[in-house]
Amino acid sequence: MHAADARSAVSIAAVRWEGREEGRLELLDQTGLPNVAAWVSCGDVETVVEAIRSLRVRGAPAIGIAGAYGLAVAAGEAVRGGLSADAARAHVLARAEELATARPTAVNLRWAVERCVGVVDRLPQATPAADLAAAILAEAREIHEEDRRLCDAIGRHGADVLPEGNVLTHCNTGALATGGEGTAIAVIVEVWRRGRRFTVYADETRPLFQGSRLTAWELLERGIPVTVLVDAAAAHLMRTGRVASVIVGADRITRNGDTANKIGTYGLAVLAAAHGIPFYVAAPSSSFDLALESGDEIPIEERSAAEVTAPAGVPTAAPGASAFNPAFDVTPARLIRGIITEKGVIEPVTAERVVAVLAGPGLAGRGGFSDGGARG
Ligand code: MRU
Repeated sequence: MHAADARSAVSIAAVRWEGREEGRLELLDQTGLPNVAAWVSCGDVETVVEAIRSLRVRGAPAIGIAGAYGLAVAAGEAVRGGLSADAARAHVLARAEELATARPTAVNLRWAVERCVGVVDRLPQATPAADLAAAILAEAREIHEEDRRLCDAIGRHGADVLPEGNVLTHCNTGALATGGEGTAIAVIVEVWRRGRRFTVYADETRPLFQGSRLTAWELLERGIPVTVLVDAAAAHLMRTGRVASVIVGADRITRNGDTANKIGTYGLAVLAAAHGIPFYVAAPSSSFDLALESGDEIPIEERSAAEVTAPAGVPTAAPGASAFNPAFDVTPARLIRGIITEKGVIEPVTAERVVAVLAGPGLAGRGGFSDGGARG
């Protein structure tokens, strides 16, 4: 194999808008992967909110993109209902709050929905529902397309710093979780494309198995071999010298660099520190929440006990046992070697560096996120 053998990710998509203004939001139902690849057609906002809550669409950037298109679905509801300009605006704004709060930890969701609300706010009060819908859809498409470019830039910056050797990743951070190639996975794919060969270890990622179901599937689709392990094997993997680096994504990063990501990430960072293994986070600037000083302020989603006691509907715990099921944890900045963003790598991870890198120029020719993409 040589570098050109790494296949493109273009065939993998989590979110699509079929047709023009009158079109429909469609979400790849990730709960069925890798066995069943079915699309959910979202004719109303309830369907979008349900898809986000139940992780049919998941991954911080992807739920942001789905939320943005979800607002276009809300405007479509107003058009079909024949609402007046005032009523249509009120309808869209009420739906915006439902969408933005569908999941609490990934800041990309509120960020993307608020970007579309900003478009509505800038239009004259008398704007008819159909024009609101068109403007929201255009913004959602822009967020989607931007994310694709951000992923490419993250891949390039990350490939410049990721150490040689085998890599361990957690959860799913690829095309299924973003509008492009991914974040941590984009880095892995880019390193592979550059011709380096190594083993990718993917944590299973309990309780919903995003690593074994989704990351393994995506990497194999791209022609990159992957080795899956139970989450509890990571310590042994590190102690026996099998990995040179750990790279993960993020759901929310605070001003000081503390990072919320899939449950189990913090444990990996502690283990990596104990074994002297560099631990990297890869995330776009839309995953930063500069309004929060530290990770202590990040809301952590807690999900149903059934996900733990009966995975995939099969009871595995003693009847009557309760379960603790936080979906995310917070890794303190001091355990992170570097945060790879589309604007460059934040290293060392300090509040000063976070602010300085995010304030820097964005992608060539598009003016970056000077409109407030990095919150705060
Ligand atoms: O609960 P999920 O599957 O939405 O959690 C996803 C993660 O934790 C990802 O690592 C994170 O969103 C980054 S995706 C590029």
